Amino acid sequence: MPGKHLARQNGPSRFDFGPLAQSYEDWYREPAGAMYDKIEKRAVGRLLPRGRGEKLLEIGCGTGHWSAWFAERGYRVVGIDVSEAMVRAARNKSIAGAAFLIGDASALPFGEGVFDVAAAITALEFVGDAGAAVREAVRCLKRPGGRLLVGTLNVLSPLNRRRVESGKQPYASANFFSPSELGKLLSPFGRAKIKVVGFVPRRGALLRIAPLLDALGRTLRLPWGDFIVAEVLL
Ligand SMILES: C[S@@+](CC[C@H](N)C(=O)[O-])C[C@H]1O[C@@H](n2cnc3c(N)ncnc32)[C@H](O)[C@@H]1O
Repeated sequence: MPGKHLARQNGPSRFDFGPLAQSYEDWYREPAGAMYDKIEKRAVGRLLPRGRGEKLLEIGCGTGHWSAWFAERGYRVVGIDVSEAMVRAARNKSIAGAAFLIGDASALPFGEGVFDVAAAITALEFVGDAGAAVREAVRCLKRPGGRLLVGTLNVLSPLNRRRVESGKQPYASANFFSPSELGKLLSPFGRAKIKVVGFVPRRGALLRIAPLLDALGRTLRLPWGDFIVAEVLL
């Protein structure tokens, strides 16, 4: 559906994550969730070099799960999220090297060129206006040299399609991207490097060989992995 990602929903977020703030990270403790987490972090880690105190803005930071990882990798992190309860959960973790604010990704409270990296992980599909969020992230990045990093659920993945079709929240409220739609969204700001990952079988024994299957899916450039990572260097 061309242009659907440009439509603004009512309000800054398509879904109120507040009621999920306490249970949000339970997923990462399940075997499948832990495997996705590992595979997604490897994929982002292949794009993002280790930091040495550079400033990283995470938009839609939620409970700070990724902010903690970015901080561990050597970045000074500012996380911003529209949900007060999610930000409270992030602050309660007292993550060294990370600070958290409540705010809308479409109207960031920062000046131009303040950050070295802007990251949005499973966030753009939930913001009301993904185009505005990306424009704002880019405005706050250094030019030249800033790095925009996006991780998002892939609409071409059978799992994600089932999630939407089942009406299960928060997926049913999301606006998922395909790799080419994400490329189009990022194209005004430079050439996007886009990788599809997350070829994860969900059944018991097979789950253990997910890293191998993921490597195969990436090598064959299959389009239907569950997660897309993208990077634009300004
Ligand atoms: C699926 S969660 C992802 C959280 C985190 N990035 C992670 O991967 O664990 C999406 C987050 O985006 C936030 N969000 C949605 N719209 C937003 C907006 N306009 N500005 C800032 N945050 C927003 C939600 O409140 C939610 O915390």
